Amino acid sequence: MNIDEAKKRIAELSELIDIHNYNYYILSQPTISDYDFDMLMNELIELEKEFPELASPTSPTKRVGGDITKLFPTVKHRYPMLSLANSYNRDEIIDFINRTKKLLDENNEQVEFVCELKFDGVSISLTYEHGVLVRAVTRGDGAQGDDVTNNVKTIKTIPLNLRGSYPDFFEMRGEIIMPHESFNRVNAERDDLGLPLFANCRNAASGSLKLMFSKETANRRLDNFCYYMMMDNIPYSSHYESLMAAKNWGFNISPHIKVCQTIGEIEDFINYWDVNRKNLPFDIDGIVIKVNSFSQRDELGLTSKSPRWAIAYKFKAEEVKTKLLSVDFQVGRHGTITPVANLEPVQLGGTTVKRATLNNADFIKQLDLHYDDTVVVIKGGEIIPKIIGIDTDLRKPDSQEVEFIKRCPKCGAELIKNEGEAAWRCPNTIGCPPQIKGRIEHFIGRKAMNIESLGEGKVEVIFDNHLINSYADLYDLTYDKLYGLEKIIVVDDEYSLMNESVTKKVSFKEKTVTNILNSLIKSREVPFSRVLFALGIKEVGEVTAKIIANTMGNIDAIMNASVEELQEINTVGPTIAQNIRDFFDDERNIQIVNRLREFGLQFEQEKKTVSENQVLDGKSIVVSGVFTNFSRDEIKQVIENHGGKNVSSISSKTDFVVAGEKMGPEKKKKAESLGVKILTETEFIEMIGYTPQTKSTGTLF
Ligand code: IVH
Repeated sequence: MNIDEAKKRIAELSELIDIHNYNYYILSQPTISDYDFDMLMNELIELEKEFPELASPTSPTKRVGGDITKLFPTVKHRYPMLSLANSYNRDEIIDFINRTKKLLDENNEQVEFVCELKFDGVSISLTYEHGVLVRAVTRGDGAQGDDVTNNVKTIKTIPLNLRGSYPDFFEMRGEIIMPHESFNRVNAERDDLGLPLFANCRNAASGSLKLMFSKETANRRLDNFCYYMMMDNIPYSSHYESLMAAKNWGFNISPHIKVCQTIGEIEDFINYWDVNRKNLPFDIDGIVIKVNSFSQRDELGLTSKSPRWAIAYKFKAEEVKTKLLSVDFQVGRHGTITPVANLEPVQLGGTTVKRATLNNADFIKQLDLHYDDTVVVIKGGEIIPKIIGIDTDLRKPDSQEVEFIKRCPKCGAELIKNEGEAAWRCPNTIGCPPQIKGRIEHFIGRKAMNIESLGEGKVEVIFDNHLINSYADLYDLTYDKLYGLEKIIVVDDEYSLMNESVTKKVSFKEKTVTNILNSLIKSREVPFSRVLFALGIKEVGEVTAKIIANTMGNIDAIMNASVEELQEINTVGPTIAQNIRDFFDDERNIQIVNRLREFGLQFEQEKKTVSENQVLDGKSIVVSGVFTNFSRDEIKQVIENHGGKNVSSISSKTDFVVAGEKMGPEKKKKAESLGVKILTETEFIEMIGYTPQTKSTGTLF
């Protein structure tokens, strides 16, 4: 493909992808399958790789993130970002409405109000020039904020290019939020990595916007709602009208907006959302009531902090009293001890609360918590129940103070506390059952070794049968050892404090065992960066592991590096460097790594374990469709391993196309018209003389 053709195709693809994004994210009416969408995106990614000079800064591929946004330049706001006057009191809302009406009534004007949800996230100012998102800036101190454009570009509901006809220059104000689903997933992952959990969706959204790598922001799956258009000489007479126009240009405007004329209508809106906010998939902390007409807004004006034309009604956090029954001490994957209160079940915000976190020893001390106490519980950030106080009037005179434990409840080791840290930890990393199980669970995880068939409680059963004591032991498992194992386990998610414990039966039948053994064999192909992540070194997440693997090249270089050398790696600070050093200073970890090495896991970046024939040497190959024996990445890797070159589009220079199922009809037509040979997956396998790993059985073990 020449540069002109590429330019044309990139423009076509970008437009198509933008339309499908709009249909999917804004209209919630996708018109193509995820697979076809991925195909379009992959084609665009490949073309931009081949012609980097054609990659636009607002290309839809930017939504997957990647660039470093290490420093956030400070940017002055063109229009100051004011806040809203708050009220927790219905009477104050009525006063605001009457006051506003009175002020405007003097001119005999009718007043309309717009009621909206008050999203609990981070406010953002988005600047558009000629339909292109050029800047995204946080509120900061109201006068200036952080330029977080690269990170904001990863949020799918924020348009990078506008549709239709729009003003040349304007700003959209909105809220970046983290939906509950993303919040739960992010916190579960953090728990897995031994990182402190985000207390609520707002903190999580804010933290995610300020990440150094936009790829990580993309992973956080943030969302956005826009609620305020700002420009000189705005061409609309009302706020509602401006939002509806913005919706047509591609902005995500909440459907829960109501134009109200009377106090009664406004009260109905407030009452409805006070009850129904629990059904929303994200947090709101109140309702915003705004004057609709822009000319009336001008008449009312601003104070130094907030506009006189709007007010926020904030919901009170619902609180209930209940009895403390007992305290559990949970042990995390990195040995952190978390005290959890077991409570007399009580209804709160639509769910039954039975447990609440007590955070750490200091928190228990500050509360002066006694057994049998009557405690006051709220839902912090609407999700995790939190004890905020005690009704000491109801305390029995002989009640016992809650004492923090001194020894690990699971292995008996004496607990330690590092200076400056709030948490007590069990130091018995290698011998403490929940820590061992936690590490193995992490090792088999999807983003680590991806041994999915070992999930859902199977590790626990194998561990409890004394068949594994470290993740290296997984590779010693055999059919005979596993077949017939059976246990009823308690599915007790450490993180989801709201959930009731559920039991389920886990049994190892023929198919289960074969799958486990097969996926263990296959896991030897997992690239080094993921193996490094799988080792579970404290705070070495997926992205950090990738960077370390790329920089250092192999495990020996990492094992032998000093803290100072490790710190030279981009993104590795003193804590992570020390964590890596501590991990490899432990002889037991070295032994585990050496065993994994003997089992054939990848400990070198990109190098293959087997030297492969070069039958594809110099050949230009296009892959198309879905394959039975490989993922698309795998087949491309196999092509490269055999000396071939992957190209994205078919031309007369293409040697052949490897076609899986659902090969794109356009590609097929093009190959046929140019006389380019099309190989089936089986023909390709025969050509390279390659036996796909997925066909292996467990007999090797
Ligand atoms: S309008 C002049 N509308 O609440 C301020 N703000 O306390 C115009 N917020 O900083 C803001 N939902 O971050 C507006 N529907 C909504 C909102 C909203 C949430 C936030 C926003 C603002 C804060 C004010």
